[in-house]
Formats: sequence, C-alpha cells, structure tokens
Amino acid sequence: MQSLLRGREVVALVFIFNLFFNESYQLTGLQVCSLCGGTVQNDTDVGQFCSRSAGRIDRRCCLSNDNTSDPERIIGLDLSNCSLTQVEDLPGASKVFMIDLSLNPIVNISEKVFLGFLDLNYLILPQDLVCPGGNFSWQKVEVTQGKRFCEGQKNMCNQTGQMSMNCPENSRCDPYGPGLFECICAENYHGYKCLRQGEFPAVKVFGPLAASMVVMSFLLWVSQRRKAKSL
Ligand SMILES: *[C@@H]1O[C@H](CO)[C@@H](O)[C@H](O)[C@H]1NC(C)=O
Ligand SMILES: *[C@@H]1O[C@H](CO)[C@@H](O)[C@H](O)[C@H]1NC(C)=O
Ligand SMILES: *[C@@H]1O[C@H](CO)[C@@H](O)[C@H](O)[C@H]1NC(C)=O
Ligand SMILES: *[C@@H]1O[C@H](CO)[C@@H](O)[C@H](O)[C@H]1NC(C)=O
Ligand SMILES: *[C@@H]1O[C@H](CO)[C@@H](O)[C@H](O)[C@H]1NC(C)=O
Ligand SMILES: *[C@@H]1O[C@H](CO)[C@@H](O)[C@H](O)[C@H]1NC(C)=O
Repeated sequence: MQSLLRGREVVALVFIFNLFFNESYQLTGLQVCSLCGGTVQNDTDVGQFCSRSAGRIDRRCCLSNDNTSDPERIIGLDLSNCSLTQVEDLPGASKVFMIDLSLNPIVNISEKVFLGFLDLNYLILPQDLVCPGGNFSWQKVEVTQGKRFCEGQKNMCNQTGQMSMNCPENSRCDPYGPGLFECICAENYHGYKCLRQGEFPAVKVFGPLAASMVVMSFLLWVSQRRKAKSL
C-alpha cells in the first residue's frame, strides 16, 4: 500500500511538471470563446443559464462579473457542434460553471483539461465520453439524446462521502476539480509527504483519481516491486 501511494505521487509530480510546462504556452484572454464560429444561442443550455445569471454573451462564452469592479469572467462556455476532435486546454475558463462540448467528434478528453475547475457544475459531453473523474466524481450522470450530462461536482475531500483518499499527515486536502484533489503541506512542512520541517514554499501534491492514473500508479508499483525483488 505504501508503494502504491508512492507511485501515485510520482504520477502526481509528472502532472505538475506538465502543468507548468503547459502554462507557458497558454493562450490568453478570451480566445477560448472563438475556438469556433457562431455565438451562444438563447435556446441552448448555456444560453438559458446565461440569461438566468444575467450574463453577457460574447461569441461562444457567457461572461459575468459578481461585482462591477471585478473583471468579467467566463461562467458559461458553449463549444457544442464545433467539429472539435480534441480538447487539450481551456485557458482562461477555470471559473466556468457550465461547459457544453456535445455534438463534437471528440474521441477522448484528458482529465488535465479540468484541473482547477472548481466551479464546474454542469458539463455536457458527447455520450461516448466518460465524465471527468468518473461517475463517482459527480452527483448525477445522465445520458440522453447522444449527450452525457455530468451534474454537480463532488468534493473529493469530503470524508463523509465515499472518498477514502487521505492526505499525508501535516497536510490539508483541497478539492482541485472533478475527481481531483491536492494535498497542501501545512505551514513549515514541505517535501515528500510533507515530512520535512522548515521554511519552504508549500509543495503541492495532486492526487488524480482518474482510472488511467490509478492504472499507471499500479504499473509503477508493480515495476518497483519487481525491482525490489530482484535486488
Ligand atoms: C432568442 O433569440 C431570438 C432571435 O435572436 C429572439 O427572437 C427570441 O425572442 C429570443 N428568445 C428569448 C427567450 O430570449
Ligand atoms: C467588490 O469587489 C471588491 C474587490 O474584490 C471587494 O472589496 C468588494 O467587497 C466587492 N463588493 C461586493 C458588493 O461584493
Ligand atoms: C450543427 O452545425 C451545422 C452546421 O453549422 C448545422 O447545420 C446544424 O443544424 C447544427 N446542429 C445542431 C443540432 O445545432
Ligand atoms: C486519445 O486518443 C488518441 C488516439 O486514439 C491517443 O493517441 C491519445 O493518447 C488519447 N489521449 C488520451 C488523453 O487518452
Ligand atoms: C455512469 O453512469 C452512466 C449513466 O447513469 C451509466 O450509463 C454508466 O454505465 C456509468 N458508468 C459506470 C462505469 O458506472
Ligand atoms: C459530503 O458528502 C455527503 C454525502 O455524500 C453529503 O451529504 C454532503 O453534503 C457533502 N458535504 C460537502 C461539503 O460536500
């Protein structure tokens, strides 16, 4: 079990590297709103959500600010029927509440896309894609008319739910998007499993729950065990 956890953390670190690497390539601004042509129609899920939230439609986005002094943020993103074959990144949309990716020939979608999407509570996908983090990361999953609806993002740190992932001692669990959480070392602790003490910027360890990640961890664990045996 210890090794399994270690394997998972290695994977998590790889995740972080990818994240930083990608960040330097991120597009900025509202480019995500023009990933394809057209504007949000008022009879769609995002269109209706936008008018309920008193948002403003800009191309494929619904924008809103809580507070006139705050900058507007993307609260809805309608990329349905966009001929998208893949989605790698949705820069600038991490505060989004609703995303529609239906009616696109997307084959698979990386969990990484939704890293940090804490407010995402309504995601519409082509029916063959699974909800990020799996069914169990959502309150309700429904499939109708070629679309998969992932509703109500669950908090992965909620110990009263079925979640059994624990953060190491001296660290705190924070949700980090669908099926994702991060363990943040307590003040003055850092390093692997937050075991070292002293002044140091907090090290974040993500615990991706995605099935693929668990499989990878398992493979790492097996290979480590084999190495250990052959010593
Ligand atoms: C939706 O938009 C159409 C045309 O842009 C308009 O005629 C119609 O009244 C709108 N419906 C609602 C509910 O706002
Ligand atoms: C508006 O935002 C500012 C700065 O973020 C904050 O200080 C203020 O309390 C907010 N006002 C309301 C009414 O939320
Ligand atoms: C999808 O887009 C095509 C071409 O833009 C259009 O003809 C079709 O009606 C759209 N389908 C839906 C369900 O909106
Ligand atoms: C998505 O599918 C393509 C081809 O089927 C594959 O090369 C790629 O690794 C897959 N990506 C993910 C994130 O699973
Ligand atoms: C996830 O939920 C959908 C819709 O309820 C269901 O069809 C599917 O079999 C579930 N998948 C798993 C792995 O439980
Ligand atoms: C934690 O999970 C339980 C059971 O699923 C649920 O009733 C409760 O609202 C959740 N709490 C939070 C803060 O998500």
